[in-house]
Amino acid sequence: MLEIRGVTRRFGKTVAVKNVDVKIAEGEMVGVIGRSGAGKSTLLRMINRLIETSEGAITFRDLEVSKLRGTALRRWNRDCAMIFQQFNLVPRLDVLTNVLLGRLNHRPTAMNLLNIYSREERIQAIAALERLDIAHTALQQAGTLSGGQQQRVAIARALMQEPQMILADEPIASLDPLNAKVVMDSLADINARDGITVITNLHTLDTARHYCSRIIGMAHGEVVFDGTASELTAAAVREIYGADTAGEGVSEEITSTSIETPARPRRERALEPALAG
Ligand SMILES: Nc1ncnc2c1ncn2[C@@H]1O[C@H](COP(=O)(O)OP(=O)(O)OP(=O)(O)O)[C@@H](O)[C@H]1O
Ligand SMILES: [Mg+2]
Repeated sequence: MLEIRGVTRRFGKTVAVKNVDVKIAEGEMVGVIGRSGAGKSTLLRMINRLIETSEGAITFRDLEVSKLRGTALRRWNRDCAMIFQQFNLVPRLDVLTNVLLGRLNHRPTAMNLLNIYSREERIQAIAALERLDIAHTALQQAGTLSGGQQQRVAIARALMQEPQMILADEPIASLDPLNAKVVMDSLADINARDGITVITNLHTLDTARHYCSRIIGMAHGEVVFDGTASELTAAAVREIYGADTAGEGVSEEITSTSIETPARPRRERALEPALAG
């Protein structure tokens, strides 16, 4: 169980996250939605300690995450893998080495300095790449891959950490529709088959509805919705995105994702020419 209790984060006069209380059970797939500036990234970054809390506590099992130091903090960074919109790979290194970097916090520093990886680790890295269907790129420079492939490398690297949880900050915001679907399907598969908790910020409603068993809506730093996709009514959408958005009439920018889902047949049809070509 991940528990966020009374968590606030201020940047000067800005309150980015305001008194948030959320409990997330292990194995959940949670989507966090909200307007730009709602505090989604700040919340995610506080969970893995890229950003410190101003107030409140974050605990995982018996661990007070917000107080971890040294080795314990490194262990937490390993248990809590992070996926970014911009992939954060080392572009000049080959794909396999990028994936092996996921072992960093599993190993003694000297081994990392000497860049020594065991046969088992290499096999594990290839297996992770195979799972993401990109093993054939193993020896290519990461920077030469397409965005969708790079994000899959980032997910393979996350798997190498053998994490308890994966945090993804808008993982598909820079991807085209087909790659977005591949990446979301991979995260859903890791959640379902490995039981790894996934918390992902998403900028489109229908992606959250389609993939997440639970949706958390944020506005002005506060959690204004917490429920299932079917509980996310037009009124709830208005509360999350603001009164100027009228439920069904919410701007295309917010609702459209591009990922074709059974719930959106119109978009599927729109994709057909692209798929045929
Ligand atoms: N390092 C920072 N310094 C100052 N202000 C910040 C910093 N990080 C975030 N903020 C502010 O905190 C608020 C929340 O930002 P955050 O990035 O968490 O929003 P978000 O929901 O992730 O938005 P987006 O959808 O654009 O990614 C914003 O007002 C932002 O300007
Ligand atoms: Mg953000």
